[in-house]
Amino acid sequence: MRQQVANSKAPGRVNLIGEHTDYNEGFTLPLAIERYTTIRVQRQAVESSVSRYFSQTLGQAAYWSMDASEFMAIDSTAANRAHESASSSKAMDAAPAWSKYVAGVINQFTKLGHSIPAIDLMIETNVPLGGGVSSSAALEVAVAMAMQKLLGTSLDGLAIAKLCQQAEHEYAGVPCGLMDQLSSVFGRTNELMLMDCRTNALEFIPASPQLAFIVINSRVKHNLADGEYRLRRQQCEEACDLLDVRSLRDVTESQLESAQVKMPDLIYRRARHVVTENERTVQAAKFLRSGNWEQVGQLMNASHISMRDDYEITCPEIDLLVTIAQAIGSDGGVYGARMTGGGFGGCIVILGKASLAESISSQVVGSYLGATGIQADAFSTRPAAGAWQCNSWQ
Ligand code: GLA
Repeated sequence: MRQQVANSKAPGRVNLIGEHTDYNEGFTLPLAIERYTTIRVQRQAVESSVSRYFSQTLGQAAYWSMDASEFMAIDSTAANRAHESASSSKAMDAAPAWSKYVAGVINQFTKLGHSIPAIDLMIETNVPLGGGVSSSAALEVAVAMAMQKLLGTSLDGLAIAKLCQQAEHEYAGVPCGLMDQLSSVFGRTNELMLMDCRTNALEFIPASPQLAFIVINSRVKHNLADGEYRLRRQQCEEACDLLDVRSLRDVTESQLESAQVKMPDLIYRRARHVVTENERTVQAAKFLRSGNWEQVGQLMNASHISMRDDYEITCPEIDLLVTIAQAIGSDGGVYGARMTGGGFGGCIVILGKASLAESISSQVVGSYLGATGIQADAFSTRPAAGAWQCNSWQ
């Protein structure tokens, strides 16, 4: 029987280490988090050419004209009427940011040759939005999983992740790598994922129950689409040209050092971040496996310095949070801390002792509030399960 309704859930992720390495075919070490985006998608009962998307979390709606293949300009007085004419070419720009990810994912199914019915799509999420923990990937993957059920398609997890990445490239204008989508699809309870972003192979690494992954949101918002992310990618490509390699994955630290003379300082530093971060990530996975958490923490601290000084993607608030967290030290339960995600604000991740997670969070949040006046959000998570299709909305 034709599926009328489909529900799904997909998690956000936090990256323990390995930042801006995915699009350089390198290594990352993320975990899916216990924060999910939930989707319910339903075929409309009455024939229509307008799909309606609702975010319950934000109290916003967007209307997609299937005839015009664009969002419809809805004036606020007519917000409940679905059959407005698709008039303004500015509608796409005016549509809420989240709705572009929805449209982007659904459009990928159209491109694969599937005929899309008019739908009502509802979203609810507890993934912090725009905070560097992949609320966008959680949304994309959840939409893809629900559409897969509704349409009866059988794409495998990798195909789903790539479809979502493509949607983000085309509809959000962010030339992201594949880490976030892979994490949201393939996350496993109690395990981190060492990703080889050249082959997309995942190695699962158990996380001891004694560990907590504490996420603190600086409440300073980044915007990856603002060009800095794209710029970093271009700078990495420039470094590859100068080094005559396919990707920075193929470069060792000593090769990079010998080539320094022929590289502009900025490009050299960008490449140094990626090359050293790859090495740190592989080492961190090894230390995590052997239970050497102090060493994992030191690599995280070094990663932060590299992001701050070589890749220049942190900001004062984030640097402050990391300094506060690191100052607690291992006696206070902190092994290491660093910014996580694309950068320019967002969250830090602390590798901490599970038994001290609450005290760590409250100390960091308290000192940050005292220094900046900003009330940060904090939560502690264990590695969580990846996306699934479910029977009910809740
Ligand atoms: C964003 C992107 C990812 C990755 C990170 C940085 O989250 O979506 O692909 O590049 O930034 O590590």
